[in-house]
Amino acid sequence: MTNVEVLLGENRKFYPPKSLVENSNIKQWMDTHKITDLETLYKRSRDIEWFWGEVEKDLVEWYSPYGKILDDSNKPFYRWFTNAGYNIVHDALDRHMKTSIKDKIAYIFEMEDGRVTNITYSDLYKDVNKLANALKELGVGKGDRVAIYLPMIPALPTSMLACAKIGAVHSVVFSGFSAHALKDRIIDSGARTLITADGFWRKGKIINLKEQADEAVKGTGIENVIVYDWSHCDVPMRKRDTWCHDITTPQSTECETEIMDSSDPLFILYTSGTTGKPKGVEHVHGGYAVGVSQTLKWVFDLKPEDIWWCGADIGWITGHSYIVYAPLILGVTSVLYEGAPAYPEPNRIWEMIARHRVTVFYTSPTAIRMHMRFGDEWAKKDDMSSLRLLGSVGEPINPEAWMWYYINIGNSRCPIMDTWWQTETGCIIISPLPILPTKPGSAALPLPGFNAQVQDRDKNPVIDKGGDLVLTTPYPSMLCTLHNEPERYIEHYWDKSGMFICGDIARVDSEGYFWVQGRGDDVLNVSGHRIGNSEVESALVSHSYVSEAAVVGRPDDIKGESIAAFVVLKIGVEQSEGLKQELREHVAREIGKIARPEYLYFVNDLPKTRSGKIMRRVVRSAIITHDVGDLSTLANPEAVEEIEKALG
Ligand code: PRX
Repeated sequence: MTNVEVLLGENRKFYPPKSLVENSNIKQWMDTHKITDLETLYKRSRDIEWFWGEVEKDLVEWYSPYGKILDDSNKPFYRWFTNAGYNIVHDALDRHMKTSIKDKIAYIFEMEDGRVTNITYSDLYKDVNKLANALKELGVGKGDRVAIYLPMIPALPTSMLACAKIGAVHSVVFSGFSAHALKDRIIDSGARTLITADGFWRKGKIINLKEQADEAVKGTGIENVIVYDWSHCDVPMRKRDTWCHDITTPQSTECETEIMDSSDPLFILYTSGTTGKPKGVEHVHGGYAVGVSQTLKWVFDLKPEDIWWCGADIGWITGHSYIVYAPLILGVTSVLYEGAPAYPEPNRIWEMIARHRVTVFYTSPTAIRMHMRFGDEWAKKDDMSSLRLLGSVGEPINPEAWMWYYINIGNSRCPIMDTWWQTETGCIIISPLPILPTKPGSAALPLPGFNAQVQDRDKNPVIDKGGDLVLTTPYPSMLCTLHNEPERYIEHYWDKSGMFICGDIARVDSEGYFWVQGRGDDVLNVSGHRIGNSEVESALVSHSYVSEAAVVGRPDDIKGESIAAFVVLKIGVEQSEGLKQELREHVAREIGKIARPEYLYFVNDLPKTRSGKIMRRVVRSAIITHDVGDLSTLANPEAVEEIEKALG
């Protein structure tokens, strides 16, 4: 038996250090509220209105008071902190200008080449105001959508905050997405302004972003493209393009913050679903601000002296919530890193933690597994003594990776917060707390103020059995709708009894701990990124040589899941290795490199039902368990042999 197996014995628990528990934010809150034990805390917080009404007082400042804490008169369109005058930028920036936080560092920004810039709250405030004024001058106003296509540079949070400040709704598109994916999102959001950059650095090379942006805006309603001069690469500027510095330099460093309703939209973030069309998840100013700042404060226990590093990309929800909005509301210092995680050496991340004295670090299981593969010696080079808490997000963390992270990075003294949540939830929902014992591989309990269940097919709650993960009560940071698709919002997420269906399969153990196993629907999770099977299939069949495609996930030691595509070519098209490569590249062009199929097989037929629907379940079973089960509903069982032959 290896050491890891010994440590992982059935239900092995790890207890947080006493000093952490005693000094934690949550413990302090419990003391103030005269709550002496965790059981009482969880019990009392089931009264969600009481709970959220209590915690918001320490987190946000409304311009005018709210009416109701929760208005559920129009389910499932819940409204929190109704009719309050509010703008999230007031809490993220404006409010700090009256305190000593003004001169504190908001972002320690490190470029890939190692250059570091310290950006204070006051620097950020001024930059945001200048851009906000420039946007106003371009005619952008309250409710207008602005698309943002930027890498991990300070311009990204600045642009988001500038939009929010004037009441515009930002729609950030991950800079790794292709021109085609950006175009779809621009059209769906109805954005007329795009903020982008000339290019950015990745593994020592400049990636030309403007080229993609130029391609994307063709045939959309974009009237203005604002371009950050970042990598100084050569880019053609057209009539609709403006260099950002040209429009911001003359602006005032003051800009009035637009007073919004707490339920007004703050941003749209597109995420993959079970159909080809991504869903525009919409979040609001008020409830979102309360949810993200509360969870950061309790789960990661952030204090004024902490140096926080969330290693996600701002293009995803983790970055929106825990690099931009929550840390700024709490007034903490964050690390922001432009480049690749293992560049130029595998220990880049650990070396940065040591150099910047990072105290709390949040990353993904894929990143942890990648570092495990580099070997322990790379993790042992640097001084990790500044760390006190660790986090994981985006996909299930296997107990071996958990233990490696715990021992090698946390020196067996930093509890790991395995946080479960989604783009839709806006903030962490199921997670350990620094005062709870952790179990490797389990995201522990729904946080106080949140309620979840695992249900069987008949919708009965089950213990110690796999089933559907559902959220049983609303919470402030939940999505308010899907952009332009309120019907889809209702149909996709809500069951008849008013429960929110997450799309995940999970199990609750006898102590109430949740073990999330992965998606239960046709959505892949590759390196913690959500990609719809049908999105990749649509990309494949958009190639003129492809007739049909079935895409499934294949377990992967590092990425959790990798993409496997089975492709039927049009009659007369010859199969070749060259064509395989071309099709993989075609998907990368259509969606982005993250969606490029790792495996691509040619087959003559795909398993189908009698009504002609491709049965991904059968394809998936063939690749994962090699046991396709009952084929009686198949119209063409011989197609299964095709798949098995292709797999060899
Ligand atoms: O399947 C779950 C998985 O990631 C999905 C949400 O993806 P996305 O909206 O892109 O947001 C990712 C970052 C919050 C979930 O439905 N997931 C996320 N965190 C975990 C997880 N699966 C297991 N354990 C987690 N801690």
